Amino acid sequence: MDKFIIKGGNILDGKITISGSKNSALPILAGALLAEEGECVIDNIPDIRDIDIMLEVIRELGAEIEYDKNEHRVAINAKNINNYKAPYDLVRKMRASFLVMGPLLGRFRQAEVSLPGGCVLGARPVDLHMKGFQSLGAKTFEGEGYIKAKAENLTGSTVYFDRPSHTGTENIILAAALAEGKTRIINAACDPEVVDLVRFLNKMGAKISGAGSTLVEIEGVNKLTGVNYKAMPDRLVAGTYACAAAITGGEVLLETADEESLQMPLMKMRAMGIDITGGNGGIVVKGPERLKPVDITTFPFPGFPTDLQACFMSMCTIADGVSNIVETVFENRLSHAMELMRLGANIKVLGDRAVINGMEHLQGASVMASDIRAGAALVLAGLCAEGTTELLRVYHIDRGYEKIDEVLKNVGADITRVSD
Ligand code: UD1
Repeated sequence: MDKFIIKGGNILDGKITISGSKNSALPILAGALLAEEGECVIDNIPDIRDIDIMLEVIRELGAEIEYDKNEHRVAINAKNINNYKAPYDLVRKMRASFLVMGPLLGRFRQAEVSLPGGCVLGARPVDLHMKGFQSLGAKTFEGEGYIKAKAENLTGSTVYFDRPSHTGTENIILAAALAEGKTRIINAACDPEVVDLVRFLNKMGAKISGAGSTLVEIEGVNKLTGVNYKAMPDRLVAGTYACAAAITGGEVLLETADEESLQMPLMKMRAMGIDITGGNGGIVVKGPERLKPVDITTFPFPGFPTDLQACFMSMCTIADGVSNIVETVFENRLSHAMELMRLGANIKVLGDRAVINGMEHLQGASVMASDIRAGAALVLAGLCAEGTTELLRVYHIDRGYEKIDEVLKNVGADITRVSD
């Protein structure tokens, strides 16, 4: 298992090119299963572990795949899918593999996908996905750790989400694209990745409107065909590197970063005294001498993204005053606070709320990543801590960040990957 050794104190300076979006590429790759003929060629695919897992699932279903990691390009031919079952061995490694359920159900009217199970962020059920499939006429069965879905006829219908679910919205869109008639999703997730998926599907021949709003309408079509498409840049990776620049008091150009999708976190960064300049195909982030404290409550898009909550907490640990963070999207997403405390941070956690009393500085120590974003937040803390931080379980970070150590080293960080 790899670990990072980070020597804190270096001020970041330079340019980072933002990779393609994980949360966009995953549903798009699943969406390629809908193409009855022709090949889908997807560009801007990040070289990360979660993409490897999704491609293993898709290969298992019988698709032909060519993956050029250097070019960040995947070609998928899904003509000869001959298996409708996504096994536990793969789904347990990544919850988002559940996204193959929608396309399988849409194209073949049957699917069997292992239950994703719980995770460190809380229970994370898939009930909203299932209710949506049922609204379209699918019969669903649970047994032996699997969810099976079958539909004699998959017919358009109105799907109500109690709360917006990001992958839930995508899964229903993927199933409804080939259903008979019109589907309406009420209280849909508005995330930019949903919009990106819909752009891709419409290019394939789908008829979907309203993506990016809470009402998405899908007019089912008979057939979808392969196309070339480029996934959007990763807003969460861009946000993480923006925090990295700011926490070290550095100045970094985030090339290709999509400013529009980052409005809320950028607004909070400005409130912390961070200088943000957009335009010219990227964002320049310049950290102040001392960060100001900030209050943040996570919400579904366009609210403050839960995925950047941990990175902002790292910044708050060295801000000049008291910050408040409330996590409303996931029931258990403050575990990084305990690890930040090992680095000397002053944080009190009460339920879904963290009160962070900013210190002059953190002190290096041994800490452990527990999920993708918590891991990234600990890298940031290590960059600004005095002395050496040893960060264990970096495989979590590798699930969502392409070569984070090399990217940060290129802008001046002292970070080394050590393989045991
Ligand atoms: C996606 C993102 C993840 C991000 C999250 C919230 C991907 C691959 N992952 O995850 O990075 O942190 O959105 O922005 O895009 N819920 C239910 N029942 C369901 C589905 C969800 O109760 O059927 C709950 C969840 O437990 C959670 C909330 O709804 O509390 C939001 O989850 P959701 O938007 O579905 O997150 P994901 O799509 O899994």
